[in-house]
Amino acid sequence: MEADLYAGFPPGFFDRSDDGPDARFYDQPRLVTHIDDGAVAAVGRLYAELGIDGDAPRPARVLDLMSSWVSHFRTPPAELVVLGMNPEELAANPAATDRLVHDLNADPRIPLPDADVDAVVCCVSIDYLTRPIEVLTDVGRVLRPGGQLAVTFSNRCFPTKAVRGWLATDDEQHGAVVAELVRRTGRFTEPTVTLRTPPGPGDPLHAVVATRSTV
Ligand SMILES: C[S@@+](CC[C@H](N)C(=O)[O-])C[C@H]1O[C@@H](n2cnc3c(N)ncnc32)[C@H](O)[C@@H]1O
Repeated sequence: MEADLYAGFPPGFFDRSDDGPDARFYDQPRLVTHIDDGAVAAVGRLYAELGIDGDAPRPARVLDLMSSWVSHFRTPPAELVVLGMNPEELAANPAATDRLVHDLNADPRIPLPDADVDAVVCCVSIDYLTRPIEVLTDVGRVLRPGGQLAVTFSNRCFPTKAVRGWLATDDEQHGAVVAELVRRTGRFTEPTVTLRTPPGPGDPLHAVVATRSTV
């Protein structure tokens, strides 16, 4: 890990208690939903508001980073590239038009050309990245200038695979952490952090949204 990039984060923040290969952890498909219906609906609503789903006037090519068998679009975009660890989960994703099995902790470079997609989404998964700034910097490379990044998260995770710093911080701090990771890439406008679900019972859904800078 490049020390300067992560200056100020406590030592061990991006370590995990299970440091074994992700390929081993994700070798069995998990065809489950990781958040409840209200949180899923909040993700779909966010994508619709950002104009990156299939109801938007302009057809979009979208990358769902750290994807599974569901991508939570109310209406899928014209093209949806899904990148994740488990081929069976990705094969079962009905919205996907392209599928990439790729371990971002082994190699943070996304196997797509420059400015290839109009938007990038990442749902309930950012906490599993051990080199998130490198990954988000490469998100800035594959995203066209002016394209949107939407990172969403809730309060559940696979604790052995989430980085220690995530487990040691609360929901509000998670928003600040994700915003800071996006900021440090130098490739996005100032991120916004919002709670997308109403207060009360049910899974909370937080979102960090930023736009790929045009310079
Ligand atoms: C909690 S699931 C979330 C899946 C999906 N985004 C959703 O909203 O249901 C975490 C996902 O992150 C992906 N993932 C975990 N570690 C990864 C890695 N090192 N590289 C790429 N994807 C990874 C897994 O394939 C898994 O599908």
